[in-house]
Amino acid sequence: MAGAGEDEVFSRATHREATHAPRRAYLAEYVRKGGVGAEIGVFWAHFSEVILREFAPSKFYLVDPYHRLHGETYPAWGPYTNRGRLTVAETLEAAKAVVASAPDVVELREQFGTEFLESLAPETLDWVYLDAGHKYEMVRDDLAAILPRLKPDGVILGDDYFADPNSTHGGVKRAVDEFAKAQGFEKIVGKYCQYVLRRPSAQTA
Ligand SMILES: C[S@@+](CC[C@H](N)C(=O)[O-])C[C@H]1O[C@@H](n2cnc3c(N)ncnc32)[C@H](O)[C@@H]1O
Repeated sequence: MAGAGEDEVFSRATHREATHAPRRAYLAEYVRKGGVGAEIGVFWAHFSEVILREFAPSKFYLVDPYHRLHGETYPAWGPYTNRGRLTVAETLEAAKAVVASAPDVVELREQFGTEFLESLAPETLDWVYLDAGHKYEMVRDDLAAILPRLKPDGVILGDDYFADPNSTHGGVKRAVDEFAKAQGFEKIVGKYCQYVLRRPSAQTA
């Protein structure tokens, strides 16, 4: 059990995404540089920084409802949210800092993924990184909303594809597998539980 000492050092720099996010930089090999993309589920914007640097987008939407979903403070997701002590203002500030680092490219949308996607014209996105709600129905609905907004050679990438369907995030695997089969997308499962979905005809990089 974690003690007070662990809480005292809780910070953005010590958060587990600070370690995990840089490991996902290899996903850039599946993405055309200079494209239009979105990260759906931003949280403390650790991976947003990596995406901005490695994917070199011309337009990059950061999509997360922040206060609209969580109010002032995150739920108690164990150490991930400092047992419910992490404030939304703190993570939102980090997302805004990413916007400020490239204001012509990055746009923050404090929206639910489906709401954001429905605001886009058809075939707008070259890529999407999906890391929002992890329950089966949530991933299923987000993937369904992404499909019409994705360019024909666009790519869907996402987090927490665990091979064990009985794992905490088994719903991600189920929704991703169903989507890939139903829509005829090639599925690639990469290191660190990342997945890539693309049409067989899609050209990358
Ligand atoms: C696992 S965290 C994202 C971590 C981030 N992608 C990273 O790699 O550093 C999940 C985030 O998804 C957000 N979220 C939950 N439901 C959402 C939805 N329907 N649309 C967009 N974001 C959502 C939560 O507010 C939370 O910030």
